[in-house]
Amino acid sequence: MMKTVKKAIIPAAGYGTRSLPITKVVPKEMFPIAGKPAIQYIVEEAIESGIEEILIVVSRTKNMILDYFDRSLEYEAFLEKTGKHHLLKKIVEPAISIQYIRQPFADGLGAAILLGKGFANKDPFAVLLPDDIFLKNDQPALRELLDVYKNYQSTVIALEKVNEKLLKNYGVVKGIDIKDNIYEIYDIVEKPRSNPPSNLAVSGRYIFEPSIFSHLEKGHKGVGGEVQLTDSIKEFLKLEKCYGVEVSSKRYDIGTEEGYFKLIQKVMSKSEQEDE
Ligand code: G1P
Repeated sequence: MMKTVKKAIIPAAGYGTRSLPITKVVPKEMFPIAGKPAIQYIVEEAIESGIEEILIVVSRTKNMILDYFDRSLEYEAFLEKTGKHHLLKKIVEPAISIQYIRQPFADGLGAAILLGKGFANKDPFAVLLPDDIFLKNDQPALRELLDVYKNYQSTVIALEKVNEKLLKNYGVVKGIDIKDNIYEIYDIVEKPRSNPPSNLAVSGRYIFEPSIFSHLEKGHKGVGGEVQLTDSIKEFLKLEKCYGVEVSSKRYDIGTEEGYFKLIQKVMSKSEQEDE
């Protein structure tokens, strides 16, 4: 039977150390981009890709995310009372089911995803890392992965060719180009210090088979003493097929000042063009 992907996990429990000091009080997922927080772009990408249920993994300091996606009766009443009805559309909650789970201690991306085991149950699911924001070309980045999943019915990872000097910041794969930007992946290394297996870096979007959980459950600590998602993918690869796709949408890493400002510039120039 053909499997489809309707669930997505957004891990948003990290400390955001790259963006200190602001992340002491403002979660990086709430950084504003033309009036909307970063995580709204991620939720919109999921919705536009056909996802129906989202689980956001949060931590103690991320309550702002829950408040943001909740209904605001106070604003609704105020806008009604003051006749500012045209603003009501700005505070509508996203048309998707969002659940939350708390991660008590940030001990790695793999550990955060493992908290989604009950949510995923026996279904394949997507993962969207909220640091990586993709501005869509023709279609949202996640949809490109879902199209590949539809054909191959196994794990799919978003890839991007990255300058050699920067590969040490990413998961890097070894794969064979099988057709039009699609790769079969044979190996993966998290943040290689030397001899990266290629210049193809993992770029923040994944589709997993639920069997990934059996590898995550082993809880092995990897780079930085954290339970790395990449290490479980490495184990998974030995048993099941895994594909990569170089997505056509442009990625902005909002964990860096440069990525964040470039994204804002791009979104603002797009909205100016639309207004013209
Ligand atoms: C994480 C992953 C890494 C991936 C990257 C993409 O790293 O562990 O494999 O390449 O996201 O942004 P982080 O950026 O959280 O250090």
